[in-house]
Amino acid sequence: MQDSKLVMSSKSILAFDKEHVWHPYASAIPENECLLVEKADGVHIYLESGENLIDGMSSWWSVIHGYNHPELNEALVEQSSKMAHVMFGGLTHRPAVELAQELLKIVPQGLKQVFYCDSGSVAVEVAMKMALQYWQSQNKEQKNQFVSIKKGYHGDTWHAMSVCDPITGMHHIFNNKLSVQHFLPSPISKFNGDFVESEIEEVELFLKENNKHIAAFILEPIVQGAGGMLFYHPNYLKQVKHLCEKYNVLLIADEIATGFGRTGKMFACEHASITPDIMCIGKALTGGYMSFAATLCTENIAATISNGNPSVFMHGPTFMANPLACAVALSSIKLLIKNKYNIQSIEQQLRQGLSALINMNAVADVRVLGAIGVIEMKNNVDMSVVQKECINQGIWLRPFGKLIYTMPPFIISKNDLKHLCNGICQVITKLYS
Ligand SMILES: Cc1ncc(COP(=O)(O)O)c(C=O)c1O
Repeated sequence: MQDSKLVMSSKSILAFDKEHVWHPYASAIPENECLLVEKADGVHIYLESGENLIDGMSSWWSVIHGYNHPELNEALVEQSSKMAHVMFGGLTHRPAVELAQELLKIVPQGLKQVFYCDSGSVAVEVAMKMALQYWQSQNKEQKNQFVSIKKGYHGDTWHAMSVCDPITGMHHIFNNKLSVQHFLPSPISKFNGDFVESEIEEVELFLKENNKHIAAFILEPIVQGAGGMLFYHPNYLKQVKHLCEKYNVLLIADEIATGFGRTGKMFACEHASITPDIMCIGKALTGGYMSFAATLCTENIAATISNGNPSVFMHGPTFMANPLACAVALSSIKLLIKNKYNIQSIEQQLRQGLSALINMNAVADVRVLGAIGVIEMKNNVDMSVVQKECINQGIWLRPFGKLIYTMPPFIISKNDLKHLCNGICQVITKLYS
């Protein structure tokens, strides 16, 4: 029985949180308290204060099937009664193997090996290590640098930070402490626009001159997320893949945000019909249930490293292939296949619901791709002011910079999506007319 004396009041919880619990990209001495979530179900986040918000963020791209999903809950409960964890060195288990089997059926053809890891950022670290070890195995130690594109974002750990945009990115304050990498311009050809052939010339010139030192080209396929929510032309990705092959440089596709259907394809690489040498996945992998990720690679990468010296890949986290995470990820992928979400219909509704905003003076652009809707303002927005208005509208968003954007769970009903779009329009009209 719960001892009521031990249950802290909402007020005390929030006060303690403000004083002692550090939140992402936040000050340890925050001006405002966070919102206290009591529970979440479907697309709704229920606050202890009584409000019920439609989640427009899918908890940062991850909660594709909505919260408190019975099948995902069941997968976790069932697995926990067998084993919550067991080390992966020398041992294996069904959830890890079955998940790899399902993953290899849906990822771009040619990816053959699955390396499980803890989070998206770690998956990027693993991908970069894989690329370095691949060249080292062939005695090409000089191929130890990376090239990326400006406005990219690949995570918060050390080497992941080094391939994020060094000027406009979130990690620019660490700029002169990180490994120096190379950055080409962010693609200018828009997803639905004409392809500007000339923009690929700069990529070719760079690779031609520098390939001796370049281990890999790393980018987010089609959607540059946290660096600007930009949707670029599939031909750009296709050409980069072609040039990487031509100049003997590996291609790492960071599908952490785009993977599992978000852009309207299972993986964004499919828009360009390419298979990268190495691919990172995370976020929606577990349907947003827990932190988990994977780095996949081709047979060539895996075989080259395994025939090198050392012949083992030098990475192995304690919680690698955690059975709970594998079980819930397996269940999430099965749901994704079974449910056949109609992302096109979400895309259409987002387009219809948000496009009128383009007529406002304060709005620079409205763009939609798959289940992602973006309103780019002409000036930076005040996140806390926008969020307050969103809460009044019964919706949850987390804008940044000039961007007010949404990527709702795929299970969102037409009515809830209408509510979400109307809410966004009302907030922007009220604050920026
Ligand atoms: C493209 C991309 N790569 C990597 C990451 C890092 O993932 P995580 O936050 O799970 O470490 C993110 C997170 O937003 C991302 O969007």
